[in-house]
Amino acid sequence: MAKAAFIGLGVMGYPMAGHLAAKGHEVTVYNRTAAKAERWVAEHKGRKAATPREAASGAEFVFACVGNDDDVRAVMLGADGALAGMTQGTVLVDHTTASAGLARELAAAGKAKGIGVLDAPVSGGEAGAKNGRLTVMVGGEAAIFDRTKPMMDCYGVSVMLMGAAGSGQLAKMVNQICIAGLVQALSEGANFAMRAGLDAKKVFEVISKGAAQSWQMENRHATMLEGKYDFGFAVDWMRKDLGICLDEAERNGARLPVTALVDQFYKHVQARGVGRYDTSSLMLLLAQP
Ligand SMILES: NC(=O)c1ccc[n+]([C@@H]2O[C@H](COP(=O)([O-])OP(=O)(O)OC[C@H]3O[C@@H](n4cnc5c(N)ncnc54)[C@H](OP(=O)(O)O)[C@@H]3O)[C@@H](O)[C@H]2O)c1
Repeated sequence: MAKAAFIGLGVMGYPMAGHLAAKGHEVTVYNRTAAKAERWVAEHKGRKAATPREAASGAEFVFACVGNDDDVRAVMLGADGALAGMTQGTVLVDHTTASAGLARELAAAGKAKGIGVLDAPVSGGEAGAKNGRLTVMVGGEAAIFDRTKPMMDCYGVSVMLMGAAGSGQLAKMVNQICIAGLVQALSEGANFAMRAGLDAKKVFEVISKGAAQSWQMENRHATMLEGKYDFGFAVDWMRKDLGICLDEAERNGARLPVTALVDQFYKHVQARGVGRYDTSSLMLLLAQP
């Protein structure tokens, strides 16, 4: 069993840290809002720390899952950051969805201290985190990945090394690009079915067994038809992720016309004051134009 630290007990981090503890690892948690750390400790019998540095001190593996690039810098770097508390030979795993540039920045900062760093964004949402069934896309050195994979297996069903530092984040960008256009198409189909006077539920029952099938269709069509958008990954997060994708595409020359358009649709959803709605709320713009 290993000594681990987990920084960021949000929707994703809280249950992920819980899976590490449930497998018998000795987990110290840090959360900016201390009440969540207290609740976690009461539930999982681990320890809590006052700063990321304190949480990371003595840990063989340090995990983080916070918000965006700047949030990662806030918990990793500086006098109270996790890196300051870590020693040579230990491993830092960042599960935040962030830019590939930040992943490379962290890897370099780690290397200077003899610390292995992996960028390891996840997919699978709140349900995946709670059920321990996340997909984890990892960037970093193979030897560090091999050593750390058993830890990530505590909450991952598919944990794969994609390449050098930053590759995990790049793979997550592909994931988000694939989802963006698909959710818009699903919204258009659902709206069309309703306006055509069809029994839309029945339509999705039949076409979800055919070539149009997708995870989004299987898991979201029923709630979308009911106009319910409180089932997971928030529009605010999606806009952060699509911004990262569009920035990266500027650098590598990839064309993302549909992704850029869907990003604007999400901006309209935010303008309605419902940025915490889940990503299937693109439907709202069609149902209530
Ligand atoms: N939710 C999903 O379905 C999902 C799926 C895949 C990937 N992700 C990604 O996973 C990451 C976390 O998502 P989440 O849904 O768990 O978010 P969340 O519920 O908002 O939690 C964010 C966590 O990060 C902490 N945090 C944020 N900024 C911080 C800062 N500057 N300093 C210290 N702590 C900070 C928050 O602390 P406080 O408690 O003090 O606010 C909280 O613990 C994001 O990058 C997101 O894009 C999310």
